[in-house]
Amino acid sequence: MTAASTPMVGLLYNPAVPLVLDALGARVDYVEVIPDRLWYDYGPQAGRNRFSHAALAIDELRRHCADRAVIGHGIGLSLPSAMPLDEAVLDQVAASHRDLGYEWYSEHLSMFLAPHRSVPNAQAGMGLPVPFDEEVLEIVSGKVRRLSDALGGARILMENGTIFSEVPEPDMSEPEFFNRLAAESGAGMLLDLHNLYANCLNLGVSAQDYLAALDPAIVVEIHLAGGDRLKGHYTDSHSRRTPSPVWEWAHEWAPRFPNLAAITFEYHESYHRRLGLAGIAEEVELMADLAARVGEARREAAA
Ligand SMILES: [Fe+2]
Repeated sequence: MTAASTPMVGLLYNPAVPLVLDALGARVDYVEVIPDRLWYDYGPQAGRNRFSHAALAIDELRRHCADRAVIGHGIGLSLPSAMPLDEAVLDQVAASHRDLGYEWYSEHLSMFLAPHRSVPNAQAGMGLPVPFDEEVLEIVSGKVRRLSDALGGARILMENGTIFSEVPEPDMSEPEFFNRLAAESGAGMLLDLHNLYANCLNLGVSAQDYLAALDPAIVVEIHLAGGDRLKGHYTDSHSRRTPSPVWEWAHEWAPRFPNLAAITFEYHESYHRRLGLAGIAEEVELMADLAARVGEARREAAA
């Protein structure tokens, strides 16, 4: 992307998003696809019958991708886990990239798989926190390179997560980990400002300190979303519109990220009615305003 370009705006794809795309048309530049939601995985023991693809959902998705950019956003590879990459899942991700042509591919800097009794890759059921140390940095760097190779050299981004508690006595801070990861593996950052917001509320993280510690050049995409309070805890439930502090951070920081290329609103389909078509359309318009502001700041800086 050029210094004077304007970031794209898009939506995380879910089964309700076609309603939004039909209504908003070209105002949504891209859809972000979770390939893991396009198949059922019956586990390695199922052998050749392991994966069953959701053919009708994939056909509908293809229709909506035809005149839009597509970004891949995975949840299944659990890159920071100590076990080797699941090569069969990797093959599925690579096949989805060949089919849909992802601009880039992101995964989470959280562990979704952990050994449990006799199962080497049991689902943790939630994103577990990552120890920010040299050993994990090496594990993730190697897997990022492997993932990029499997996707024909595609750019890989890693996303900051929400956690219930931090792993104590880290070798480095989370922003430092992302900076080092970028330097050692080429991974960009998918900066989820709502995840950061949840960690600020639940763990007392300082958003300003966190954002100031990031190398601005590594941020390629921003996620926006909303959540709920649940028994004193703030959840990243993708259930509401983006809270105002998150918008304030986005407007303050997005123009400082020279390689920011995309701004995505995430919501879960079960909250489509709560958000309403008009509410989602407003989020898209607000993202377009933010993207225009970033583009304007770049043009001014280039003049
Ligand atoms: Fe996210």
